[in-house]
Amino acid sequence: MSVRILGIESSCDETAAAIVADGREILSSVVASQIDIHRKYGGVVPELASREHLRQIVPVVREALVQAGLQFSDVDAVGVTHGPGLVGSLLVGITYGKTLAFALNKPLVPVNHLEGHVHAVFLEAHKSSAVPELPAVCLIVSGGHTVLYEVRAEQGTRAEATAQLRYRKIGQTRDDAAGEAYDKVSKLLGFGYPGGPILDRLAAAAGSEPAPVKFGSIKMKGNPFDFSFSGLKTAVLYHVREHAEYALEIAVREAALERGERKFEQLLPLCSRQTLGLVREFQNAVVRDLCDRTFMAAENCGASTILVSGGVAANAQLRSVFEAKGKASGMQTFFPSRALSTDNAAMIAAAAFPRFCARIFADTSLNATASLPLS
Ligand code: KG4
Ligand code: ZN
Repeated sequence: MSVRILGIESSCDETAAAIVADGREILSSVVASQIDIHRKYGGVVPELASREHLRQIVPVVREALVQAGLQFSDVDAVGVTHGPGLVGSLLVGITYGKTLAFALNKPLVPVNHLEGHVHAVFLEAHKSSAVPELPAVCLIVSGGHTVLYEVRAEQGTRAEATAQLRYRKIGQTRDDAAGEAYDKVSKLLGFGYPGGPILDRLAAAAGSEPAPVKFGSIKMKGNPFDFSFSGLKTAVLYHVREHAEYALEIAVREAALERGERKFEQLLPLCSRQTLGLVREFQNAVVRDLCDRTFMAAENCGASTILVSGGVAANAQLRSVFEAKGKASGMQTFFPSRALSTDNAAMIAAAAFPRFCARIFADTSLNATASLPLS
């Protein structure tokens, strides 16, 4: 008989619920995104996020059950994100999860959101019957995080569904997360929010347009596995300020966004060759830095596997650069699908499974922890 865990995720701006059997089989996964609500503010507004989670949590969980063809009574445990994230948002999922677990008389399993992102990679690998070898280095790269972990199993050398995993933080961003840099550069160039998906496509469309500026590699003193993206974002800003010709097309794109024209096909014709070249150079610099530091960390840890997860892991160039470098160096690289890269609850249910097996349960005193550490 399989163990079916209902996962609940509400740490940022996605209300999500999913049911996963035995930590690997996704029976359903429902995500209600709040992007349309936060877009006009250019980022997530915490108060609005909490209110929207309150509106969405009940229908989203119901839909997860319907899609899985299950009743509440078929659920063996409730896994819920208790941090890191926005406290008001986390509290909605936690309160709902606690109440449900109590009412069903089923265990409540507390899950770290970052551990969920690691498990998103394992869920995807499982679809092709792969079980990544450990130790691995995992890059979690999203709008809120850019962090490198070493991932080991307490016993054995494979990421089995029941394996108790141990994490060691190797490096992290000292300022902006990579996704945040995408969002800020997108805003300043008049491409709206979120920035990652549109800049990803524009960079691909840039082809071999001449580069209006070249960004060198990102240099920092101290830990070579730390990241820093605010300097790159500022370099883009200064370049745009110093070249008056960008101003007009930025204003034209901002007007298009105001009219609700934010699709790639609508914005591409409003871009000069210079802008496309600039977007490509920005993305090259981000991807090169993420890739170089992650591979360096993997070699340093003696890992033969690299895992990449989080919203920015959806980036087409990032995926192809990691895959190519992995092939060239004999390093196995694993990514989640695009749907599992961004915040979802299937990854929370998957991460809850080994904890369920180890009987790591929470009681009704479970609280939200904004900066919950993973290691
Ligand atoms: O993981 P996620 O859904 O939420 C958190 O931030 O936790 O990630 C969202 C972030 C945003 O900053 C968004 O711009 C970025 O991921 N993103 C991308 C792409 N798709 C989403 N960045 C680069 N390329 C993409 N294709
Ligand atoms: Zn996330």
